[in-house]
Amino acid sequence: ATSRLTGGGESSGTSAPPVAHCLHQGYSSRTLRSWQGVAPISPANLVYPLFVTHEADGCEEIPSMPGQCRYGYRRVVSEVERLVHEGLRAVLLFGVVPQSVKDSTGSWADCPESPVVLALQLLSASAVIRSISTLLVADVCLCEYTDHGHCGLLNPHGRIANTQSIQRLAEVSLAYVKAGADVIAPSDMMDGRVAAIKQLLKSEGYEHIPVMSYSSKFASCFYGPFRDAAGSAPGFGDRKGYQLPPGSRGLAIRASVRDADEGADFLMVKPAGVYLDVIREVRNRTTLPIAAYQVSGEYAMLYFGAQHGAFDLKTAVLETITSIQRAGADIVISYFTPQLLKWLKEQ
Ligand code: PBG
Repeated sequence: ATSRLTGGGESSGTSAPPVAHCLHQGYSSRTLRSWQGVAPISPANLVYPLFVTHEADGCEEIPSMPGQCRYGYRRVVSEVERLVHEGLRAVLLFGVVPQSVKDSTGSWADCPESPVVLALQLLSASAVIRSISTLLVADVCLCEYTDHGHCGLLNPHGRIANTQSIQRLAEVSLAYVKAGADVIAPSDMMDGRVAAIKQLLKSEGYEHIPVMSYSSKFASCFYGPFRDAAGSAPGFGDRKGYQLPPGSRGLAIRASVRDADEGADFLMVKPAGVYLDVIREVRNRTTLPIAAYQVSGEYAMLYFGAQHGAFDLKTAVLETITSIQRAGADIVISYFTPQLLKWLKEQ
């Protein structure tokens, strides 16, 4: 009889493996394969990061992230509405401002002309977006707005002033909530910011707004294209003093557990692809939902790899998303979200 197993030993004269050791029958059809592991991600669990500028109707492609654009705060509304019709249920907003308006406190993070504030006001007023309860997630950080490009405020010696930083981050969070944000996502990594944000939101009557903490965020070279896109590279030094060392495991777990204790509603591991083990460890330590961020450099790697014929883009991206889910993530933040919404429909 012909074996259904590829590489079965009968014909070559070696002895057949014991029946109990034969695994391949268990996944010989598409449906059987689906019984072996994670189901395809639900569109509702995908988050699309978007860069917003103050040029109302602007739309410029980001050279290091082909296919991704910086949208003006008015132009972004039609773009999100279009994607909502394709199944989009959550966006993550980043602001991009000219160098000339950056200052030591990052005023443009939350001033009335701030692109994120303006975009949140317009997006939250859109009937299309509201009717399908699409989530407006606001990234909160100062690096896009400070003249020194660091994620917090600095003291006169050029070191992070933690207490002032978390007060400022809470203030920015409150402004975003007032402008229409549904979820606040601090990506700055300052100590105690989750508690500070939660506390201020509660005292202002916004205790219903969840916080998605970038809780295990590594100092990664894979943020390179993002820093181009947002013009947020540090003016001096690096972020290694407040983002996690790539080799750290205990620290990464403690950071997520600490943020959970401070009241974070969602945790995050970032980047996703080279930190799958951390996703799994955080998964094993907490019952909170975990988001994983497939960052700009992961997008660029997949995009350029496929463009140069190394693999098929759709197959490769779907495999990375499956791996991120298998590691234990519930929510995936990816620049591939628009394509994923299409690809998941085709499946
Ligand atoms: C801001 C921030 C960064 C990213 C998200 N928020 C850059 C950084 O920390 O340097 C990176 C996202 C990406 O690479 O896609 N703190």
